[in-house]
Amino acid sequence: MLDQTHPYPLSSPTLRSLMKESPLNNPEQKAVIDQILVTYRDVSGGLMVVLNEIQSQIGYISRPIQEYVALVLNVPVSSIHGVVTFYSFFTTEPRGEHTLKFCMGTACYVGGTPQLLQKAEQLLDIEPGHTTPDGKITLEICRCVGACSQAPVVVVDEQLYGRIRPSKLPALVREIVKSSANSPGE
Ligand code: FES
Repeated sequence: MLDQTHPYPLSSPTLRSLMKESPLNNPEQKAVIDQILVTYRDVSGGLMVVLNEIQSQIGYISRPIQEYVALVLNVPVSSIHGVVTFYSFFTTEPRGEHTLKFCMGTACYVGGTPQLLQKAEQLLDIEPGHTTPDGKITLEICRCVGACSQAPVVVVDEQLYGRIRPSKLPALVREIVKSSANSPGE
């Protein structure tokens, strides 16, 4: 019978080695991951639900987490890695203080998102799915956010900016960094 608290045998050497890596060695975060696995491991389409929940609740799905999920669900880690890297809403590392998302829906794509994204990559020196070394900005692409009439759309955290041109991006990035510097506790 499955242990409903620890869905994989704690004595497993593989598990012990994975637990050396954060967040599996963080008891609170591991408990969250275990709860997700126990809850969804047997539902239909469980893998996607598990990955979605881990992304939402932990904030990213690192390689050790992928390996842990593979062990528990008894699926090849390559399958999990394939899903995580295919869908842009999954990230393999923690997100930064702010998220800069570029809509890749049809209207935005046609309206110039690829050029915008290229400019953002140059400005931040990172690719989508990654975070600046100072931890301030994560660059992402996303699907249509429902504001097609304002294409191309950029989303900073939860705020939409429409009809953005590449020339406006440096100011937008400066604004994000400045708001970060003014945050309480900075
Ligand atoms: S395609 Fe970008 S908001 Fe719809």
